[in-house]
Amino acid sequence: MKHKIVFATGNEGKMREVRMILDDLGMEILSMKEAGAAPEINENGKTFGENAEIKARAVWECTGGIVLADDSGLVIDYLNGEPGIYSARYMGEDTSYEIKNQNLIDRVRGAKGQERAARFVCNIAAVLPDGQVLHTEQTMEGLIAEAPAGNEGFGYDPILYLPEFGKTSAELTLEQKNEISHRGKALEAMKKELQRLFKGEEK
Ligand code: IMP
Repeated sequence: MKHKIVFATGNEGKMREVRMILDDLGMEILSMKEAGAAPEINENGKTFGENAEIKARAVWECTGGIVLADDSGLVIDYLNGEPGIYSARYMGEDTSYEIKNQNLIDRVRGAKGQERAARFVCNIAAVLPDGQVLHTEQTMEGLIAEAPAGNEGFGYDPILYLPEFGKTSAELTLEQKNEISHRGKALEAMKKELQRLFKGEEK
């Protein structure tokens, strides 16, 4: 039986990335819209994993089958993990990232070296046809930059400095970023899980 995977996001950019990475599963990949699912989603979890599962479960209730969802954000050690699961909502959804990024840099002023450690985290939840849930979680580790840099990417990319590249995440090309990003690595790990579980059933 050929399985379909629904990815619970309304973001087209994310869908492109997901399709590219999951392509060799041999399964049809649908967005929430393509699957005709538009559930009310109340993201009130306390962790990335809980929020990813809430999104995946809400869509699965409409579609059944295999449903994937992700939840991600920036975790800054010096700020006790802020903005964390509130990354999108930090300082208000409508506040520009120029302002959010400058605010975070101001709040870590004075922190030196490893005190500036921070990471993007991505948790992916998969609800399987029998209702069982799987999770994968990966990070992209760095330091909060002294000043924002770079125009690629989105969100907090200009302030996560990656020592091994000598650049911020916003100075990497999309291809470079996908190879090492929290989301890219979590999706690759989920792909392996699904390959293992549904091996031989793709055709
Ligand atoms: P989500 O799409 O609900 O998981 O929200 C994730 C939020 O975390 C985004 O709105 C960004 O603020 C932040 N974020 C997650 N991943 C990245 C990234 O790769 N670069 C920059 N910001 C990110």
